[in-house]
Amino acid sequence: MSKKLTIADIIAMKKAGEKITMLTAYDAGFAAYLDQSGIDLVLVGDSLGMVALGYDSTVPVTMEEMLHHARAVRRGVKRAILVGDMPFLSYQADSRDAVYNAGRFLKEAGCDCVKVEGGIEIADTVRIMVRAGIPVIGHIGLTPQTASQLGGFKVQGRDLDSAKRVIADAKALEKAGVFALVLECIPEKLAAVITELITVPTIGIGAGSGCDGQVLVTHDLVGLFDKHVPRFVKSYANLAPQIKDAVAAFRDEVKTGAFPAPEHAFSMQIEVKDLLDSN
Ligand code: KIV
Repeated sequence: MSKKLTIADIIAMKKAGEKITMLTAYDAGFAAYLDQSGIDLVLVGDSLGMVALGYDSTVPVTMEEMLHHARAVRRGVKRAILVGDMPFLSYQADSRDAVYNAGRFLKEAGCDCVKVEGGIEIADTVRIMVRAGIPVIGHIGLTPQTASQLGGFKVQGRDLDSAKRVIADAKALEKAGVFALVLECIPEKLAAVITELITVPTIGIGAGSGCDGQVLVTHDLVGLFDKHVPRFVKSYANLAPQIKDAVAAFRDEVKTGAFPAPEHAFSMQIEVKDLLDSN
């Protein structure tokens, strides 16, 4: 295994022109696959709510749920930077909540940093978090926790006013001290402009190829979440049908008696007759 990455390594990748990779994980097993495959940042995303907990959105996800999964992911990650995604209303109400809850990700789950959604409106909070010693990743553009305020799950920054707002958000967060910025669902050219304008790495999702790195929800990438797959996702595998086929084959073989076969069973060192006689 190569050495554990640091936040300085992630920042250096932008300067070196090396693309940054980030993927989500919610359990130790998947986290280990990502880590062993050389992914730079493993995000315990609040997408947990939709992908693994069966909620319709990320809004209901709680701190306790996030910490439970972050602790599991921590056990699978050795090299990558571990990012804890702060759930809805764990940081928006005031900066004391933000510092306290971010601190829980670092102290109780062993995360290296946290991610928060929002722009100018949370810049003061981010500044206080960073001053308290918490490394923060920003997340602007389409912010799923507040998607209803943005008119739904829509591309942001298409017209002049809205593009200027996204740029202002990026600059405010950079000034507040984020060490990286997720750009979600904004036009490719706007993402490229922001990537040029700010010194911290941009990590895009639905933001085109001009970003310093890319992030996806792992379940989308491997074809495990078939409820709604956004257009910007590339699925590199299609595991859901394979899992369903394997489960159906197990059910059929148990029903017909084909499973378990002799090679799946254990032998005894005594005769059944001797066992029955002794009882
Ligand atoms: O929660 C999540 O998975 C995320 C990524 C999509 C960036 O925030």
